[in-house]
Amino acid sequence: MNYDKIIQSALKEVEDSNSSEKLEQVRIKYFGKNGTFTNALKSLSTLPIEEKKSVGEKLNGFKNLFFSSFSKKKNQIENLEINKKLENDFIDLSLPAREVNFIEAKVHPISHTTNEIVNILGDMGLSYEEGPDIEDDFHNFSALNIPENHPARQMHDTFYVKSKTHETLVLRTHTSPVQIRSLKKNKLPLKIFAPGRTYRCDSDMTHTPMFHQVEGLVVDKDITFANLKWFVESFCKTFFEKNDLKLRFRPSYFPFTEPSAEVDINFKKESGKIIIGEGDKWMEILGCGLVHPEVFRMSGVKQDVTGFAFGMGIERLAMLKYGMPDLRDFFDSDLRWLEHYGFSFFEKTDLSWR
Ligand code: PHE
Repeated sequence: MNYDKIIQSALKEVEDSNSSEKLEQVRIKYFGKNGTFTNALKSLSTLPIEEKKSVGEKLNGFKNLFFSSFSKKKNQIENLEINKKLENDFIDLSLPAREVNFIEAKVHPISHTTNEIVNILGDMGLSYEEGPDIEDDFHNFSALNIPENHPARQMHDTFYVKSKTHETLVLRTHTSPVQIRSLKKNKLPLKIFAPGRTYRCDSDMTHTPMFHQVEGLVVDKDITFANLKWFVESFCKTFFEKNDLKLRFRPSYFPFTEPSAEVDINFKKESGKIIIGEGDKWMEILGCGLVHPEVFRMSGVKQDVTGFAFGMGIERLAMLKYGMPDLRDFFDSDLRWLEHYGFSFFEKTDLSWR
């Protein structure tokens, strides 16, 4: 067979192909399963040994020649085909966009309420402090006059954290350890507040394992219960935006304050809704008292000072102010709830009522 002639016409057919399909047909004709050159290569074994070598070399040379021009052509054709497709494709820019339900971003009620509290306490002259969520036993309990085996520890349903050292670590059960951390800096007088996450192993309608508190601490010469009373009263009236809000200080017990009180505010229920600042029912909203001398001693405060402290739950304040019925909703991340109870950005605390 005159392979030289055949390869010439094969190369010409490659060159003349003007589509991927045509080119593929040429490949099959010569190098497909039953192609001219495929068969020729197969029949090499039947040739006498001297011919085998020379014919074999020739055929392989043709194969290389064929495929180098084949792939060149293939590239050319594919480029042409893509360009053609691009030219003919049409994007209709006048088509209306697919509908998307944009939800206005909302501020979570916890963030909003915390911001309100921060603004009010800041206005009242306290500065912002914070402490770690993972606390040691000393700051969360001992320094707050809650020694080991003290029954008050049981009230706290503590989450214990595994520690690599011998130290006992807990998720702080209240924000009161920030009192100790601030006092230890020993810069007096001290006027601070500390909002943040707190944890107790508890979960039902009115308790979640993680919740938020704000701590307040004022330490100076001659701080009295009268100062505490005025402070708490002013804060509550401002927060609930009710100048005639009534407060009741009920004797209570906290190991780190003496005397201690729980504060109630007045409310009434109207068609299932709670209205704060009206009516003669009482609702507890915070705990407070005068700083226990043991707390000063444990924090290394040697000066002759007194102080008051208070602590309150942020969720509870938010629920009362904004009429949210179930505490657990706060942490469900349900967008519909957030859409309903969330706050717009850029909404400022309105203090004009004062
Ligand atoms: N830490 C107390 C609690 O979690 C609240 C409190 C704070 C009471 C400061 C008195 C003074 O219940």
